[in-house]
Amino acid sequence: MKSFKLIQLLAITAVLLAGCKEETSQQEADAQEPGGLKTIFKDDFYIGAAISATQIEEADAKAAALLPKEFNSITPENVMKWMYIHPGRDSFDFALPDKFVALGEKHGMNIIAHALLWHSQLAPWVEQVKDAKEMEAVLTNHINTIVGRYKGRVHGWDVVNEALNEDGTLRETPFLKTMGEAYLEKVFKLAAAADPAAELYYNDYNIEQPAKRAGCIAMIKKLQAAGVKIDGVGIQGHWSIAGLPYEDIEKSIQEYAALGLKVHFTELDMTVLPNPWDLKGAEVSQNFPGSPFMNPYPDSFPVARQEEQAVAYQRLFELFLKHRDHIERVTFWGMNDGHSWLNGWPIKDRTNYPLLFDRNFEPKPAYRSVMELKKKAKP
Ligand code: G3I
Repeated sequence: MKSFKLIQLLAITAVLLAGCKEETSQQEADAQEPGGLKTIFKDDFYIGAAISATQIEEADAKAAALLPKEFNSITPENVMKWMYIHPGRDSFDFALPDKFVALGEKHGMNIIAHALLWHSQLAPWVEQVKDAKEMEAVLTNHINTIVGRYKGRVHGWDVVNEALNEDGTLRETPFLKTMGEAYLEKVFKLAAAADPAAELYYNDYNIEQPAKRAGCIAMIKKLQAAGVKIDGVGIQGHWSIAGLPYEDIEKSIQEYAALGLKVHFTELDMTVLPNPWDLKGAEVSQNFPGSPFMNPYPDSFPVARQEEQAVAYQRLFELFLKHRDHIERVTFWGMNDGHSWLNGWPIKDRTNYPLLFDRNFEPKPAYRSVMELKKKAKP
């Protein structure tokens, strides 16, 4: 009798599991319908990805196939940063940036260039610039040469990246030290003159947080009052599964939109690893020693945590859809979990899972949860 009951139980379990499996594979098939993310959100905002040198060169066949299927906007993760594109005072290296722009054109994508001015990843010679006059000449050459080269081909520029401290004051960069805050107006005006059709953005992390947001709004208002053309603000969106600032994100969309700006989420990812220092944002100079406790999922990402991440991504995209009229673009900082900079920051050599595709380019539960939002919305 006991063994009969056990057999019955096993049979029921097998049927249930088969049902689940069928449902899961149906969900997977639905989620991978032709066109993917970019198609499902085509009436809402661009869906972008930051791409590395390997992906620009289409050296990885899986990445090369996934990129145009899922994304309709690209940003170069590193190759247009000052130290790579303008390494010597009179030398520029356009090899990879040219390929990046050509790849975007091949796929008819919204091409975003990143970043014209950033205190990090600067060429060392820029740190030696002594005074305002010399810096102005350096910036003029930098911007005229680079923006001029891609005139009419790049859709938007991250003109200034991360110029603010957490309290909303201006960061002590080589540009601020030599020129004072006048550098901000100068670079936006130079960029606008070099390519009048390109959109120009201010891009930063944590500018959804109240103090930094207030500083950002004050800075943008000053620029607007000085007649500067600024089309959008880039909220980077380096957030954690431990708590996304949904309310601050919503307030930020409303407050930046009230300035007449389009809002872009420019570097979206969601770390799932411990962060005992309560670091927020993406200050690349921060680095801490590792330990097994700090790297809890070296081999695989537990299913329960995947579901937790799916819920968080869904709630975030729900918010994005609610404010779709003000949002121009949502760009992920990397294509799959294996590519993410969060495997190396703020501790080197960890295994993180912050994006919508796993290391094998397979869609994760978070991908499906985001796609489902639009399916639910259909009549
Ligand atoms: O190019 C060298 C290569 O020659 C060398 O062999 C290799 C060895 O480590 O390092 C390579 O440089 C690395 C570079 O990425 C390219 O892979 C740097 O060490 C590394 O620090 C650099 O990190 C990038 C970081 O910005 C600093 O530029 C990350 O990939 C990139 O994701 C990250 O992106 C920034 C955004 O631009 C601005 N907002 C924050 C965001 C995250 O930090």
